[in-house]
Amino acid sequence: MFGLRRPPKHASHAFRSWTNTFLRRSLAAPTSRPPSIEILGGTYPTDETTNITPSIISKLPERLYSRPGHPIHILKSLIESHFNQHGAPSTFHCPSADSFSPLVTPKQNFDDLSFPSDHPGRSLQDSYYVNRDLLLRTHTSAHEVELFASGHNSWLFTSDVYRRDEIDASHYPVFHQMEGASVFSTNVTGMKDLVDNIEYTRYATDQKDLEIEDLTVINDENPYQLDHDPEQVDLVIESLKLSINGLLLKLFRDAAGVSRADPLRVRWIPAYFPFTTPSYEVEVFFNGKWLEILGCGVVQDATLQHANVKNKLGWAFGLGLERIAMILTSIPDIRLFWSKDHRFLSQFSSGNLTKFQPYSKYPACYKDLSFWLPGPTVEHNDVFDLVRDCAGDLVENVELIDDFIHPKNQKRSLCFRINYRSMDRSLSNEEVNEIHTRVASLSKDRLGVEIR
Ligand code: DAH
Repeated sequence: MFGLRRPPKHASHAFRSWTNTFLRRSLAAPTSRPPSIEILGGTYPTDETTNITPSIISKLPERLYSRPGHPIHILKSLIESHFNQHGAPSTFHCPSADSFSPLVTPKQNFDDLSFPSDHPGRSLQDSYYVNRDLLLRTHTSAHEVELFASGHNSWLFTSDVYRRDEIDASHYPVFHQMEGASVFSTNVTGMKDLVDNIEYTRYATDQKDLEIEDLTVINDENPYQLDHDPEQVDLVIESLKLSINGLLLKLFRDAAGVSRADPLRVRWIPAYFPFTTPSYEVEVFFNGKWLEILGCGVVQDATLQHANVKNKLGWAFGLGLERIAMILTSIPDIRLFWSKDHRFLSQFSSGNLTKFQPYSKYPACYKDLSFWLPGPTVEHNDVFDLVRDCAGDLVENVELIDDFIHPKNQKRSLCFRINYRSMDRSLSNEEVNEIHTRVASLSKDRLGVEIR
């Protein structure tokens, strides 16, 4: 969403303004909404922006990141122990996500991180709002200011994050990110610490094991910050690159059990994030493909100012845990992370991300949902959310297969193909029919469409 996980899908995406989406939503949602909703034991007033759904609310107490033996927890722990290995010059503080509410203000999620006011990430199409003052965090960066304000110079923070998205094997509206950062004082002592850190990190990783392609340059498009001393920033970038390369070697060679014969290929490319500059994306060559792994950069001074941290500079990174765990274990469908089936859970144990052994693939059942729109368009994410509300994790993917305008009355018709499949058992025809009937009826209620 922020330049890392998804590039804008349509040209119009980038121009979607807050006001427009707000209006579209009110026109498209004729259902009455309750005056308030219960979330994690609290009661919150709703308003025209409320788009959080029951299926999303039900995920909030799950806390996969805190379950020993769950692949998300295993990966989190592997990264934490890598950064805090014996002898490391700085200690990374790793607070539990339990002490941070997943409900954040637009200030925390966007403003304090220098997001422009028209950034698409703010829209109701991309994010889950409880009301206009509160949304589900869309990234772990939402807690950067609190984490920097806690006084720790180096920290790692892992939690669930929420984004409205399509339905397929690699997209789920809840996933997990880890955010990491390290800052140094700009005085002589701080710079000495930074140089020590660079030396340590360089020697802790065997540089022969890496083949780095560095395509980054500092220029007007990816500049230094005005108040920064370029010489100090160059050291920060060196520390960032060494730290991330060492982590990638740990994950994609040691944890993946890949032989040491060939070096690991890592590629650094320029990127844009509102809250870092210069910014980078890092890719790894794994199983014959270049894979985007994380985003990172030099922390915007504005973020540190909001945390009341003065005369420091440093780096931050953010990565998606499901994506990395799926690559390392070959887990084929992101829904499996939410499975309670022991055939899934019993396959993993602390300290190891072993290859996933598929236990069975149950039959799929396709059903089409066709309707006439009440107006010119409908947000696809509204369709995906209502399908999830009816089918939960029994929906594997949803795809638009037809879109036409009737020549006589100019009405627009859409057809979505919904693929129902359980990961744990066979579904009966009656069960799927029942779910599909609910999907059709909720489409009428929520979107005002006419089922064909
Ligand atoms: N928050 C970004 C996202 O969700 C990821 C990210 C990029 C985090 C760069 C960072 C960073 O800390 O420096 O797409």
